[in-house]
Amino acid sequence: MNVDGKNLRPIWLEEGTGNIKIIDQRKLPHEFSVVELDTPEAVITAIREMYVRGAPLIGATGAYGVYLAARKCMDERVFDDVLDRSCRDIRSARPTAVNLAWAVDRMQASIGITGTASEKIDRARREADRITEEETENCRRIGEHGLKLVEAIAREKRGSAINILTHCNAGWLACIEYGTATAPIYAAAKSGIDVHVWVDETRPLNQGARLTAWELGKAGIPHTLIADNAGGHLMQHGMVDMVIVGTDRTTHTGDVANKIGTYLKALAARDNGVPFYVALPGSTFDWQLTDGLAQIPIEERDPDEVRYVPGLKDGKMTSVCICPADSPAANPAFDVTPARLVTAFITERGVCEATPEAIAGLFPEKAGHR
Ligand code: MRU
Repeated sequence: MNVDGKNLRPIWLEEGTGNIKIIDQRKLPHEFSVVELDTPEAVITAIREMYVRGAPLIGATGAYGVYLAARKCMDERVFDDVLDRSCRDIRSARPTAVNLAWAVDRMQASIGITGTASEKIDRARREADRITEEETENCRRIGEHGLKLVEAIAREKRGSAINILTHCNAGWLACIEYGTATAPIYAAAKSGIDVHVWVDETRPLNQGARLTAWELGKAGIPHTLIADNAGGHLMQHGMVDMVIVGTDRTTHTGDVANKIGTYLKALAARDNGVPFYVALPGSTFDWQLTDGLAQIPIEERDPDEVRYVPGLKDGKMTSVCICPADSPAANPAFDVTPARLVTAFITERGVCEATPEAIAGLFPEKAGHR
């Protein structure tokens, strides 16, 4: 993504050292900071502590984590066992986004067990690069398919601005380039459609306020930050034409796990006849699970993320307590929106209804391998 004249991605491999560099998303938008990762342990910390976040990016980071783990295993005799252990640890750094397990499994399959350590390291690096580039291309295609949906609304509205509501950050920061939910927005703006985005702040970590607002601002996309609870009101007043969100894991039956609060937006959208779209690459489908509510693991994060709000004061990052010092808090990080509330999925292969049959129609090779 072009940011202030520079081409940026949230992750890249440094040619000279072979180490990984990431944008530290905890510090955005107030500070732009790049962190170097040179061990699988550093990758696990970066994923767990959310230096990097967002399902496709967690997948790519996990893939490079496996490459770093392979690079560390120099003893041929124990290579496979050591790599296996690292893969298990990387896989479990965060539980909800299925892209992480998907990427680690793909890395292990591609590294294989034949050949020397250096051949395996080579295969690991090439596969991590491939995953990253494929996910980038998938997001570009999500943009192309989603653009058609925005164009249809633009025709109905005859030139007045299209208001799109999004939750959390499913932009390029979460996905390498284009984003998932933002890809149709960027594509629409590029094709000259007048788009305006309602950006949910997305408590408790404020990915909407900190990251989506930053991304859209840098891309020159008109947007307005709103409190998480404002979406329903805006929909009741005809001020939202469509909702587009991303997802961290979607069952092959169409249930969607996404950032906490997504379900309430879907309910409000249904009550107000607003189309509710979920944009995702194939890697975010879970081909094993059939009941999202019962089966998708929901990450419980530190309650202090709810009790404290970080921000900038007098040019310095600070954090303030927003509740009585002894009030307990709970912090489920995701919720599940049932398939029946989803108007359609926007994938790299096209748009489909949230039914097992329609999803299988787009991904027949996956549906056959459950
Ligand atoms: O906890 P995060 O920031 O990793 O969660 C990310 C999300 O839930 C995003 O909304 C997103 O839609 C999934 S990634 C494109």
